[in-house]
Amino acid sequence: MNKAPGIIFSLSVAALLTVGVSAPVVAQDVDAARALAQSNNCLQCHGIKKDKDGPAFLKTAEKYKGKANAEDELVKHITSGKKVKLADGTQEEHKIVKTIPPNDAAQMKNLVKWILATQ
Ligand code: HEC
Repeated sequence: MNKAPGIIFSLSVAALLTVGVSAPVVAQDVDAARALAQSNNCLQCHGIKKDKDGPAFLKTAEKYKGKANAEDELVKHITSGKKVKLADGTQEEHKIVKTIPPNDAAQMKNLVKWILATQ
């Protein structure tokens, strides 16, 4: 009796189950992130790949690649309103992200993860 097909089948099922269980944990909600960026006018100053008044999100993703505190740093950046320099040299306080309900940490994390995943 050849048992190999049965073993391969069991392994495949196990692999599928693992993916099925773990995927929602790591997946970010891309649509929600993009919608939040749009409703906050982030994309007016940030292209995905193109610099505008602010750096392209791709550039930010590259800058923070491999940094353990990247998410916290960026959440701080979009919630603290620190002074930034626009392309024309003028300074203003950086936009503070508005969520509904206000200060929703999960939505901010999702937005930041989306930015960091830009490629
Ligand atoms: C009026 C233009 C403007 C708007 C609107 C704006 N930004 Fe920015 N943003 C900037 C500028 C300018 C910088 C560069 C700051 C610097 O390098 O000092 C920046 C930097 C950043 C960075 C990089 C921070 C870092 O540490 O490298 C991120 C991420 C970012 N913005 C996200 C956002 C998000 C998310 C929104 C929407 C909630 C947003 N920005 C709205 C102008 C803007």
